[in-house]
Amino acid sequence: MSNNAIAVMASGKGSNLRVILDAVAAGTCPVEVKLVISDKADAQALKIARAAGVPEVLHLNPKEYADHASFDADWAEAIEAAGCQWIVLAGYMRILSSSFVRRFRGRMINIHPSILPAFPGAKAVEAALSYGVKASGCTVHLVDEVLDGDTLESLHARIQLEEHRLYPATLARMVTTGFEIDGRRVIWRT
Ligand code: GRF
Repeated sequence: MSNNAIAVMASGKGSNLRVILDAVAAGTCPVEVKLVISDKADAQALKIARAAGVPEVLHLNPKEYADHASFDADWAEAIEAAGCQWIVLAGYMRILSSSFVRRFRGRMINIHPSILPAFPGAKAVEAALSYGVKASGCTVHLVDEVLDGDTLESLHARIQLEEHRLYPATLARMVTTGFEIDGRRVIWRT
């Protein structure tokens, strides 16, 4: 399994998939999109993937499965069979089972159309607008589960595991490649 092989999961129009594929073609995003998979037969994302020549493009229909767990298990098999190290959620609109999230822990990222933790959930943009925000944005985050029965202590302990990976890695990046400060923005040098 190569370290840059990704599976993209999408349910909708696929604009994020498109920019990823464009960036790969332009040589600015060093990933290999090996599999695009959708729960919707008519997702534009599937057409974009086929047109770009993604080696494997799959539709799995949730209605053909007895339950959520068996659907997610087939999905996971397809991702592993394709040799993908990473899962990139790009407008995937189904709730993932805990077992799926655990199986790909630390290897699955999502893009969400709000600045988390504000406005989580499927209707983030509507919620931000009706709240009357004056600024919004998007968040790329690792997908992890909050376990049933999590307490303040147990959740904080798991978040700290992530902090303990992230902080040294950030310090390393800070002293090797470094960054520029532009007003309130930090821009990593490449
Ligand atoms: C994006 O707004 C993303 O933030 C959210 O779903 C939407 C997907 O859009 N998770 P697209 O299908 O990539 O155009």
